[in-house]
Amino acid sequence: MTFAVYWLSMVKKADTKSRSSSRPPRIAIAIMAAGKGTRLKSKHPKVLHEIGGKRILAHVIATAQRVVPAEDIFVIVGHEAERVREAVAGTGVNFVLQAAQRGTGHALMVARDALFGNATGNGNKYDQVIVLSGDAPLITAETIRKLSAFHTAQKATMTLLTADLDDPYGYGRVLRKGGRVEVQAIVEEKSATPQQKKIREINSGFYAFDAPALYEHIDSLSTENAHGEYYLTDMAGVFHRARKKVVAIKTSDAGEVQGSNTRSEMMILDARLRLAKCRELLEEGVTIFYPHTCVIDSDVEVGADTVIEPFVQLLGSTKIGADCRIRSYSVIGNSVIGDRVTVKPGTIMEDSRVGAGAVLGPYTHLRPGSDVGEGAHVGNFVETKKIKLGKGSKAGHLSYLGDAEIGENVNIGAGTITCNYDGVNKHQTVIEDGVFIGSDSTLVAPVKIGHGAYVAAGSCITEDVPADALALGRSRQSVKEGWARAKRDAQKEKRR
Ligand code: UD1
Ligand code: CA
Repeated sequence: MTFAVYWLSMVKKADTKSRSSSRPPRIAIAIMAAGKGTRLKSKHPKVLHEIGGKRILAHVIATAQRVVPAEDIFVIVGHEAERVREAVAGTGVNFVLQAAQRGTGHALMVARDALFGNATGNGNKYDQVIVLSGDAPLITAETIRKLSAFHTAQKATMTLLTADLDDPYGYGRVLRKGGRVEVQAIVEEKSATPQQKKIREINSGFYAFDAPALYEHIDSLSTENAHGEYYLTDMAGVFHRARKKVVAIKTSDAGEVQGSNTRSEMMILDARLRLAKCRELLEEGVTIFYPHTCVIDSDVEVGADTVIEPFVQLLGSTKIGADCRIRSYSVIGNSVIGDRVTVKPGTIMEDSRVGAGAVLGPYTHLRPGSDVGEGAHVGNFVETKKIKLGKGSKAGHLSYLGDAEIGENVNIGAGTITCNYDGVNKHQTVIEDGVFIGSDSTLVAPVKIGHGAYVAAGSCITEDVPADALALGRSRQSVKEGWARAKRDAQKEKRR
């Protein structure tokens, strides 16, 4: 035997050995999200409701993705399947359709092909299936990993994650074998005896299963229970009777397994998540006054030494730089704000960008597509839409600026309006660097004001203004000397 052949044969041996004994289990995560959510009395599917400004299912998927790659995640959809699928399609996870929702056990039955394979061969895709509830968004990746590792270490067939609740009402109760790690069964609230209802250890709805065993026994589930549905929880009893090992691991943080069956449960989860978000920001060096009055969504980012005053809302994918001050009653959605920006009270912003050192408000309204340059100033009652406002430019008061490209160091006088709409189409206004627009001017688009030009106050500009010119678009003032005195004198005469 040459060395190379010997070496190859050793490598092969080592390879087969590791695959048979110590190969890590192939893990799939199934997320049950097919239910309607009847208890919410909503026209929207339960898993698409928002908690902490993010869809409940999106939270669960994001957490699952921290444990296994998207290709090993299977979301079971049914009620309004298309809407649910569309809402989270960007994550790259797989979907399984549960056309009729006949219970949590049935949800796993329809996922047989995806998780295990079909009769025609490609069986045994995964060793372990972790089941998550699509309506319990606070579960952490760490807890899922613990559940999975415990299941593997115990060589169990089914492992449930449980928690002790002060008020276990509504949850499935866990029947342990005389206080041991093994579980005999789960009883749902509806079928529990008064004695069983006193059990405070609840089934969280998160499980790990041995995949082949699950699909060998899942057809033993029946609909003979209080709801007439296939209950996944009944698998505990099924396995127990088949002398397979069912165990439970209890989480120390009962909060993270809480579901959202009702609007008041959602309110509790939302408050928890938002407070946690505020804590995380405080941790990162952000100051938040009265955090319980602020609404800050889960994905928002804020830089250090930024101060957030009471009653501020930071929504969606908003990113705020360092050393900013966001004053009260500002509502900022999906916007990016640079460092050292001051946002004065009552400013509303959506899908916009603001450069470093800019000053906004009070009562500025940046509508989608507004791009405010570094050090620019947009003041009271100024509304903008789809505009670029250059570095150092100012629009201080009472303006509407829409569909406009405005250069650097431009001064937009109070009350200036871009007339961008002719009733059918929108037109562009171009204002070059260093332009001065006098107060109360109307700029009828399409129109261009060349660099360094002046527009006299009160002008209605309908034609392009060349660079460095002065444009007056108003009638000349005429003065009638003594007119007012003469009028008063005439009135006095009449009264006599
Ligand atoms: C379930 C458990 C209960 C546990 C609780 C924890 C069962 C029978 N009961 O009750 O023991 O204490 O979770 O929160 O499982 N779903 C489907 N297809 C269906 C039915 C439901 O995908 O046919 C989905 C739902 O969309 C939901 C999840 O499964 O995301 C759980 O269903 P839900 O009706 O909320 O179960 P619970 O009553 O909360
Ligand atoms: Ca639930």
